[in-house]
Amino acid sequence: MTNSVPREEGIDNSLSLLREGYLYILNRRQSFNSNIFETRLLGKKAICMGGKEAAGIFYDNDKFKREGVAPNRVAQTLFGKNGVQSLDGQAHQHRKEMFMSIMTEERLGKLKEIARKHWAAAVDKWQQMDEVVLYEEAQEIMCNTACEWAGVPVKENEVKALADDLRAMFESATAIGPSHWAGRNARNRVEKWIGEIIDQVRDGKLNPEEGTALYTFALHRDLDGELLDAKTASVEVINILRPIVAIAVFINFTALAVHHYPEEREKLKSGDEKNAQMFVQEVRRFYPFFPFAAAQVKEDFIWKDYTFEKGTLTLLDLYGTNHDPDIWGNPDVFRPDRFAEWDGSPFSFIPQGGGDYYLGHRCAGEWVTIEVMKVGLDFLVNKIAYDVPEQDLSYSKVSIPSIPHSNVIIKNVLRL
Ligand code: HEM
Repeated sequence: MTNSVPREEGIDNSLSLLREGYLYILNRRQSFNSNIFETRLLGKKAICMGGKEAAGIFYDNDKFKREGVAPNRVAQTLFGKNGVQSLDGQAHQHRKEMFMSIMTEERLGKLKEIARKHWAAAVDKWQQMDEVVLYEEAQEIMCNTACEWAGVPVKENEVKALADDLRAMFESATAIGPSHWAGRNARNRVEKWIGEIIDQVRDGKLNPEEGTALYTFALHRDLDGELLDAKTASVEVINILRPIVAIAVFINFTALAVHHYPEEREKLKSGDEKNAQMFVQEVRRFYPFFPFAAAQVKEDFIWKDYTFEKGTLTLLDLYGTNHDPDIWGNPDVFRPDRFAEWDGSPFSFIPQGGGDYYLGHRCAGEWVTIEVMKVGLDFLVNKIAYDVPEQDLSYSKVSIPSIPHSNVIIKNVLRL
């Protein structure tokens, strides 16, 4: 079969990816005028693709697999080893079912209640502070929320250190040198601590509430009827705690959007749920977070006259699909109302991956993210007044993850 898709020149283009970050795939999709192109990354042939149709292919389990895809530096920091991200087939479905079983309406309702409580406590504190660095404070709110919701016991004076460790895991995957090693150390520390907690649950010394992640994951049995080893169970509990703390990134971007688009802020004052939902969706579409998802071709197949060869690393452009002009009119304009017309396709809006939650690798915590963001948005718009002093609110489209450079500072916080 002919390999008719464009090919990027060069022995290795990993540096261009690092230099262009979120825009690397989109820039080339535009210059090649093709939603798929071939390149070389990490010394090997790789395929990059984006857009709705490409997302549909990427999430076809017969075509792609995940085992062995994450580079070691990502496994040692962001993901951990033997977690759901690295599984395929029945083993993946069974483990994913464990995650999705805690995402019930009742548990999400509980989560919102917990998040509101921790926001309220933080606001009490902020009223006494000269200035509030929102990124840091949101991490603590999220860490408290995550632990309480997941059933993980944490003392008040340990929350800051734990939030720092969980943040280091998602900030260090792409870092080099000391920052990267800080992420590895953080992972080792937290995995050990949670592993001990898992043992306590199994020994009956600790009794988390039924339905929490700690309870469910500690007692989960794999397809052979065996408990997960304590390290793997710990990796999976961290797969709940770490990304909830990462919602602090989206809370920072939410605050930025509220500040930059006062006319949109006005619409949120009525407390209308639909407007809040659309605003949060637009924040997740517009601002950069996960640049791409990665998989490996399972068996040779042909798509668009192009042979995908078994074993080839394939990246799906998440950021670029959310900014694809064929899907989103004026993609670089922040316009929450666009979601009134969105058809809900699982492949066109993919900030947290696409496809099916149960059968594929789409983010298990997407509903958690949306609900928790709405709680934060309501606080920022309706529950507190504050000033935004002069600061550098710009953000990078290169460094991953990206956050506003000042970390968003607010002052004169007043509870309404
Ligand atoms: C903070 C915002 C978040 C973003 C941007 C995000 C993004 C993503 C992305 C891009 C994936 C991979 C999709 C793929 O490989 O195809 C993913 C997977 C996952 N996420 Fe999230 N996520 C977020 C929050 C959460 C939360 C709050 C949780 C848990 C409460 C969570 C749990 C997971 C898990 C367990 C997976 C692995 C799913 C699988 O492999 O089947 N995420 N997320």
